[in-house]
Amino acid sequence: MAPTRPLFAANWKMHKDPVETREFLDAFLTRHGARDGATVVFFPPAISLQAFGESVAGRADVEFGVQDVHEETHGAHTGAISASMAPATGATWGLAGHSERRTEFGDDDATVGAKLSRLFEAGLQPILCVGETLEEREAGRLEEVLRRQVTGALDSIGAARREDLVYAYEPVWAIGTGRTATPADAAEAHAIARRCIADSTNEQDAANAILLYGGSVKPSNIDDLLAAEGVDGVLVGGASLEPASFAAICAGEG
Ligand code: 13P
Repeated sequence: MAPTRPLFAANWKMHKDPVETREFLDAFLTRHGARDGATVVFFPPAISLQAFGESVAGRADVEFGVQDVHEETHGAHTGAISASMAPATGATWGLAGHSERRTEFGDDDATVGAKLSRLFEAGLQPILCVGETLEEREAGRLEEVLRRQVTGALDSIGAARREDLVYAYEPVWAIGTGRTATPADAAEAHAIARRCIADSTNEQDAANAILLYGGSVKPSNIDDLLAAEGVDGVLVGGASLEPASFAAICAGEG
């Protein structure tokens, strides 16, 4: 199903085993009412995908996906999972290029591009994550970094697929720090990212692209962030780990 706005995504990172996943969903699903037009997507750890899929069976209002995949389709890569393994769990989405993958695991733009290709080939809906560090921002390099990340990844995927990509702008300085970009910061960066997307695709695809904001999103700032120009939804880390908190974000309650 094509993703719709607003889009609320939860990146659980290395949190929640299968038991905790089931407990979360027991609590979340009773609170989460269908909101007109919204898409809600979770990214549990790979080990919890199966439990997630079983718990949301029959709930068309909750989708889920993989946080990361290997850039190859199969082979001797101990500890890795491939995109083609994910659909058997019911997963339909995949992240690529999260800043934690880029810094902790050395994913460069070419690797991120290869991962996007594997996700598309497996029939998953990818989200490309981009964003600058504080040092890069303070050095006035925001546009240069976003352009490199967008172009580097899009160059690796077929032109026909680029229009289907979903994007997340996540300034590294706002991730897990409690320091949120202001709605004006988000609007400015989203305009720059969209210009970079337009240069790699075309004006129409860039205007239509779903572009999420991520970085210390919480119930108290969701309304202001969603109201910012060009922000089509959010990618939430810490505040998605608690059912009431993420349900409030999905309801857009301030
Ligand atoms: P926080 O919401 O914890 O800042 O994490 C954001 C993020 O990295 C989501 O992918």
